[in-house]
Amino acid sequence: MKKWWHDKVAYQIYPKSFYDSNGDGIGDIPGIIDKLDYLHDLGVDIVWLSPCYQSPLADQGYDISDYYKIDPRFGTMEDMERLIAEAKKRNMYILMDLVVNHCSDEHEWFRKACEDPDGKYGRFFYLRDKEEGKLPTNWRSYFGGSVWEDLPGTDKQYLHVFHKKQPDLNWENPELREEVYKNINWWLDKGLGGFRIDAIMNIKKALPLHDYEPDREDGLCSVSAMLQEARGIGEFLGEMRDRTFKKYDAFSVGEVFNEKPEELPDFIGDNGYFSSMFDFNETIFGGSEKGWYDAKPITPDDYKRCCFESQKRIGEIGFLSNIIENHDEPRGVCRYIPEGDCCLESKKMLAALNFMLRGIPFIYQGQEIGMENLPISSIDEVDDISARDEYKVALAAGLSPEEALRTIARFSRDNARTPMQWSDEENAGFSAGKPWLKVNPNYSSINVESQLSDENSVLQFYKKLVAIRKDPAYKETVVYGILEPVWEEKHNLMAYYRKGDKTLLVVGNYQRGEQEITLETAYRKVLLNNYKDIVQEKGTIRLQGYQVLILEM
Ligand code: GLC
Ligand code: CA
Repeated sequence: MKKWWHDKVAYQIYPKSFYDSNGDGIGDIPGIIDKLDYLHDLGVDIVWLSPCYQSPLADQGYDISDYYKIDPRFGTMEDMERLIAEAKKRNMYILMDLVVNHCSDEHEWFRKACEDPDGKYGRFFYLRDKEEGKLPTNWRSYFGGSVWEDLPGTDKQYLHVFHKKQPDLNWENPELREEVYKNINWWLDKGLGGFRIDAIMNIKKALPLHDYEPDREDGLCSVSAMLQEARGIGEFLGEMRDRTFKKYDAFSVGEVFNEKPEELPDFIGDNGYFSSMFDFNETIFGGSEKGWYDAKPITPDDYKRCCFESQKRIGEIGFLSNIIENHDEPRGVCRYIPEGDCCLESKKMLAALNFMLRGIPFIYQGQEIGMENLPISSIDEVDDISARDEYKVALAAGLSPEEALRTIARFSRDNARTPMQWSDEENAGFSAGKPWLKVNPNYSSINVESQLSDENSVLQFYKKLVAIRKDPAYKETVVYGILEPVWEEKHNLMAYYRKGDKTLLVVGNYQRGEQEITLETAYRKVLLNNYKDIVQEKGTIRLQGYQVLILEM
């Protein structure tokens, strides 16, 4: 069944780092409104905002202390309403981030739970009696250390699978679920296009809570051991869909990990729990239970395999949301392009290979200008709580401080969170004040302003990709056409057909050296090329280093 979001282009904003309208160093909602025309020009239809609700910002807003308020650092409720209205004028949709696996320990519910742990609000959380010298379970939180913390002023402990300032909400409790649905509908009534749904696979715990085999020296085990055992999340998700999104025909995109293959139709099929879910197959590649320091880098062949695996798994069941990066990942151009080869051509190649996959493309702020990782020289410069923990993990595993820092530099979430580079003016034109997080020093060469006037820039290339997706002649094929890999075994080459009423060939030479391909049939037209020419003799094309082509066959 066709849905309004299938042919859209989405864009993720990390509000704190997008554009600061009042010079306090923190990006804000009025700043987003100022830049709506920029996004509209780029061809963006759907804009997802990372959280801007009231929050102590312990995890940069993923710790919400009031779901009905905008944090004053980001603006006011009127600003938010204005943003929704301004977007609507431009046929754009705003998505907010739905963070309901946990709230903040500064949320009223949590405060009331501390006052009366056996009362109504105690049942909104996972509380267990405190026992001296023994934790309720041996799980390790995603951000390090035990998931159990003392509930202030009581003889109990509470569960937090993320930071201790992010207590998990108890979805088994129908009263909590009602509160969640009420909140979602309240926002949808304001005219939101929908939500991106945070960390949602964590809402279903395997009960009764119990220990699992430790997987590190600390005697703890990853939360994922428990999640693997948990069953029945579908009941919660189906109920949420029916009570909220479905009634509004809203778009929902889930941060879904480790779903069971047979459940895919339930998740993103015609009447799925969500409209779409992110493809994380590339981002999780090479990950290690031991920590970031043990992660193995991804090669071009791995990248290709990851993309095609996901495409095959989903087929025509539904629509993935494809990403190169997000606010939790390093910059894709530094990760998926071999070291030393990150350049204009390779950035464009990566963009085209990803953008033309079947699914909904999500561009993360700065990706469209080829922003890169942030160089760091000391752990004190790092803000990301996850990176700070991984630094300790690396040191504990015997790495030298220099090696540990190199690991952090590779994976830190700060890489994606540095201020958006608008121009070569002070602070990259992001703020008139001192930015909350260091600006990447390369802003003088990588910024929006210079790329807007450069026909050859990464930004202009993204615009061309969007234009192909929206061209009435190709849209049906790009959106609904099947994806068929070609020359799959060829080293450092990623190529596929998109077949619908037209046939398109997308081919990228994923290396510095040249490489030849022989076409199966002649092409009619070149839709996009990151080089000026195509070197060819009859049906054989000699691809230049990192050359990418989109051909109509
Ligand atoms: C998601 C978010 C991440 C956050 C975590 C806890 O993974 O993307 O930024 O830290 O959930 O809410
Ligand atoms: Ca501001």
